[in-house]
Amino acid sequence: MHKAAFKTLKVSAVYEAFDVKPNDLEDFMKNLHEKHVDGLNVSMPYKTEVMQYLAGIDPVAKKIGAVNCIYKKNGKYHGTNYDWKGIIEPLKKITPLKGKKVLLLGAGGAAKAACYGLKKEGAKVFILNRTFESAKHLADQYGFKATETAEFMPEIVINCTSVGFDNPEESPINPRVFKDVKIVLDIIYGHKTRFVKDARAAGVPYIITGLEVLLYQGYATLEKWLGVKAPKEVMRESL
Ligand code: ATR
Repeated sequence: MHKAAFKTLKVSAVYEAFDVKPNDLEDFMKNLHEKHVDGLNVSMPYKTEVMQYLAGIDPVAKKIGAVNCIYKKNGKYHGTNYDWKGIIEPLKKITPLKGKKVLLLGAGGAAKAACYGLKKEGAKVFILNRTFESAKHLADQYGFKATETAEFMPEIVINCTSVGFDNPEESPINPRVFKDVKIVLDIIYGHKTRFVKDARAAGVPYIITGLEVLLYQGYATLEKWLGVKAPKEVMRESL
């Protein structure tokens, strides 16, 4: 999607994947200048670890505790986070989130980004996680509730666990939960997950897949790097 955007905007740039081994991360980050890197996305599992190699971290990334976008300012590398936008923006296209009852599954990196955005929008969030203590810890940070059940009739269900990433046939939640749910969002992209299939089968009216999440953080990232409006249709099409 970024390559397509560069082409449309006539920007002379490439977007490449780097396969960085854990032992090479420090060297990799210290040699960004030599590699002529002007911007970078960071994916799992380095979103927190890269922070120590940056000249500055935006408040949003500090609060979330993770960086997914690196940009250059005055010749130095700074980190920010647009994962929260990837989750919030497609939801907001469907409905305002103020006061909405949200069931958030997971309490890891992606869930932290979701919490940041959901708090900003004034949603009522209940966090359900395999490890209750992490759900409690995250909930306390944002004034949300940790829950051990999904019996409270959520209007929106968000999957921020990694269940379904390795095994697409596994879902983090019993499909019964989807009964009166209006919107389901899955952060996992690359394949159809059991979570999404269950939601579809249950007749959930709005389903946002991980691809959409990827796309929206991509818009924000591109705009940060180039300082111009993202060519959204071109990016969507290419993705
Ligand atoms: P990410 O950065 O993608 O959020 P992460 O920080 O490793 O990845 O978080 C993964 C999330 O998926 C966690 O909430 C994790 O639950 P725990 O806190 O109990 O580890 C959840 N998760 C991973 N595998 C799971 C499984 N098999 N069943 C339920 N939850 C799972």
